Amino acid sequence: MNPINHVAIIMDGNGRWGLKHKNSRNAGHKAGLITVEKIINITIKNNIKYLTLFAFSTENWKRPKSEINYLFNLLENFLKSKIEDLNKRNIKLNIIGFKKFPKKLNKLLIKSEKKTFKNKTLQINLALNYGSKLELINAFKNLAKNKQKISINNLSKNLLTKNIPDPDFLIRTGNTKRLSNFLLWQLAYAEIFFEKKLWPDFNERDYNKIIKNFRKIKRNFGNI
Ligand code: FPP
Repeated sequence: MNPINHVAIIMDGNGRWGLKHKNSRNAGHKAGLITVEKIINITIKNNIKYLTLFAFSTENWKRPKSEINYLFNLLENFLKSKIEDLNKRNIKLNIIGFKKFPKKLNKLLIKSEKKTFKNKTLQINLALNYGSKLELINAFKNLAKNKQKISINNLSKNLLTKNIPDPDFLIRTGNTKRLSNFLLWQLAYAEIFFEKKLWPDFNERDYNKIIKNFRKIKRNFGNI
């Protein structure tokens, strides 16, 4: 049975869910946050140590300002109301991405990271203003600047995910089969599960089913 150390998720389908049920994309993001909380709990129940969630990509800046502001407010309120609880539950919050948010949010993100830094039960990597191509370019630039040899090991150490093991599997909800510039290097050997359901509809049963299926897969890593 495969052990599971790290799960990565592209939480797609909020907009469509919101339009369908409440005639508002933002309502879908609000509902999506409830799913985030449920998924955190199930991840802990399964004793999985890393959970990486794609919350905002470097390409998401193309969205209408009103939607971007709504997402940032949602995140801000979430951190303000839940960081104490996350901390008490020994959960570590780690932001991966290029912090470039409104000042208040930036400060709150840094404060939340500091507060939960030593926690051990689960590390949540929240990908915010994250894009894999930019991450890779930055890593190569660092290697060149520091005159380091270009190797798999050195490159990995210069990614935003340094010190984090690669994901064992990726889930993408929302009935779309693409990677959307998410963890392109780190997912090289991950199993991928494309889920038809929209993110707010994704539930404990769906997640546990994927976990069960993943455990049964024969992983060869290029071997036979
Ligand atoms: C993709 O769905 C989802 C996002 C870009 C945002 C994800 C945000 C959340 C799950 C809620 C907020 C999370 C935190 C941690 C505060 P989409 O909008 O692209 O959906 P669509 O494909 O139906 O348009």
